Amino acid sequence: MHTIQEILPTLYWVGANDRRLERFENLFPIPQGVSYNSYLFKDTKTALLDTVDSAVTAQFLENVTHALGGRELDYLVVNHMEPDHCANIEELVRRYPNVKVVGNKKTFQLFSQFYHLDIAKNHYLVKEGDILDLGEHKLEFFFAPMVHWPEVMLTYEQTRNILFSADAFGTFGALSGNLFVDQMDYERHFLSETRRYYANIIGKFGSQVQAAFAKLPISSVSMICPLHGPIWRENTGYIFDKYQLWSTYTPEREGVVIAYASMYGNTEAAVNKLALMLAERGIRDIRMFDVSRTHLSDIVGEVWENSHLVIASPTYNMHLYAGAANLLEDLLALGLKNRKVAIIGNHSWASAAKKSMEELVSSLKDSEILASMDIKSSLKDEQLVELEAMADAIANSMTV
Ligand code: FEO
Repeated sequence: MHTIQEILPTLYWVGANDRRLERFENLFPIPQGVSYNSYLFKDTKTALLDTVDSAVTAQFLENVTHALGGRELDYLVVNHMEPDHCANIEELVRRYPNVKVVGNKKTFQLFSQFYHLDIAKNHYLVKEGDILDLGEHKLEFFFAPMVHWPEVMLTYEQTRNILFSADAFGTFGALSGNLFVDQMDYERHFLSETRRYYANIIGKFGSQVQAAFAKLPISSVSMICPLHGPIWRENTGYIFDKYQLWSTYTPEREGVVIAYASMYGNTEAAVNKLALMLAERGIRDIRMFDVSRTHLSDIVGEVWENSHLVIASPTYNMHLYAGAANLLEDLLALGLKNRKVAIIGNHSWASAAKKSMEELVSSLKDSEILASMDIKSSLKDEQLVELEAMADAIANSMTV
């Protein structure tokens, strides 16, 4: 059954949801599923903006067919050539052989790398600033390389000021009937997943997000249509403000994330004690995670939100326990900056974890190690003074 939704009398959502996929990019758990958004203009000309993942092809094609209502498809705009959005280009060209596929040089280069059908006769090559006139609606193309791949374009509809933002402003989480942010409790159900999506998928490309924003008429945008998750048609400044913070690696709140690895509970006992000391100093809403239990992407999202990180790990193979190493290496790979960090190492006969964590954290730009300590197998009373000093250093570096 078709599941299209009207956005405007001439614009329809024709995407699809996937609640069966275990991991997005075969990496990130998505317990609430994911949506693949596709948008159809039915103007003097028809234009489809992006397709969907191959897992939901049947639903998508049923939607497109129903929404077109027997009309031809004149244009297929490819804002992003990642397979979760472009898996149906070949099939659409087969069904609508005269369709013009709108993209840039990199779009078509990636298409030929991923797929086999020769669509050269369908190419409609655009440059930055080109305008596609559909009738009432005029689409302007802004190039946004590395938000999140090099070919990415953002499409700006000039008549109603609608930004088709590709992966930007997207989120994990399927849509449950409500297509618009103003129809849902967004902060409860989507904000942390939007942040997790941003930090893990686009987080590395903060400067490219900023470069894209510099080109856009942000204050005029009345609606944001991303490729994943709900549409913003009110209060677009809210999510622009979040992106401004996230893309400049600015914490949203003064708060502490404690991420620890613990084999037999002794490192965990040390961070439990530290957390009590932090609470005694008035620090609220402390977030604590066992790196062996909580998926890395969830911890990365929390780190993106908060100003402080405590990382604790035992020595393992003269380096770090894998989960702790993975977290720090991932934060480095994502280009995290501007955080205050405290470090607790643990060892029984040869100390390496503390030094390894210090080296990794030292590579985080604009960040500071507030305190670093090593324990030997388990925390003893005589080291409580050192732990208190760490708690003081954390509390004194916070403004709330
Ligand atoms: Fe949703 Fe970069 O693809």
